[in-house]
Amino acid sequence: MNNTPIKLAFLFLSVTATATAIATPAKRTNYLFTPHAKAVAGICTVIPTNTSLCCKTLKHVPTDDPIELIRALAFAAETSVKHSVSFLSGIKPKHKSNANAAAAINSCEKNLKYALEDFAEFWKATGKDVTTLAHNYFTCKKTLMSIMGYHSTCLDDIEDKNLFNEVEFGIGVGKNLSSDSFDVFNGLNTIFKTFGIKVKLNEEDTSPRPPPLSDYYY
Ligand SMILES: *[C@@H]1O[C@H](CO)[C@@H](O)[C@H](O)[C@H]1NC(C)=O
Ligand SMILES: *[C@@H]1O[C@H](CO)[C@@H](O)[C@H](O)[C@H]1NC(C)=O
Repeated sequence: MNNTPIKLAFLFLSVTATATAIATPAKRTNYLFTPHAKAVAGICTVIPTNTSLCCKTLKHVPTDDPIELIRALAFAAETSVKHSVSFLSGIKPKHKSNANAAAAINSCEKNLKYALEDFAEFWKATGKDVTTLAHNYFTCKKTLMSIMGYHSTCLDDIEDKNLFNEVEFGIGVGKNLSSDSFDVFNGLNTIFKTFGIKVKLNEEDTSPRPPPLSDYYY
């Protein structure tokens, strides 16, 4: 991770060298005018609160395909929630002597593990193509909302102000990226219009239901 800027700098130098070698009068394009920046903006703009984390996250995803970018945002959210779980395990020893704090951390960890189970369901629902995603649209939104709920529950359970701040900061990126992912799915109609994707989003619940009660009788 840490040597990414170096790699990028190297790549940039290589590209510059190549460009000079073939002596093309290369005009420098401002990133903001590239198709990639437009694709990222077209997605992140539906987030009503703060688009900066979304833009920052997607800026480095090497595709202009809106669906791939949307997947990448949710994937980044899931990865961050995994980091949140590790973060919580990491601070346990420090709070071992305080029973309330230890219980709150354990409870938060349990909630975020449920959130990760919801991500597994989310990926099943999104499937591999846009048709599956559109068919399971309601389920995708529902799982993302549930993931947000687990983050709120985690924080609601923490009474101690210092511990609250510590946990809020530690799980913040995952929480915010999950919320951004929800906003993006919530605004998917707008996004599809922006990109001219003519697929209808199914607002009906397609999640697997428990078998009817009669199935339990023999
Ligand atoms: C938006 O979020 C970024 C990073 O998450 C933060 O640095 C910035 O202060 C936020 N801006 C506002 C207006 O809240
Ligand atoms: C998450 O979002 C909130 C509200 O916009 C902001 O105050 C906070 O700094 C963000 N946290 C991170 C880690 O980006």
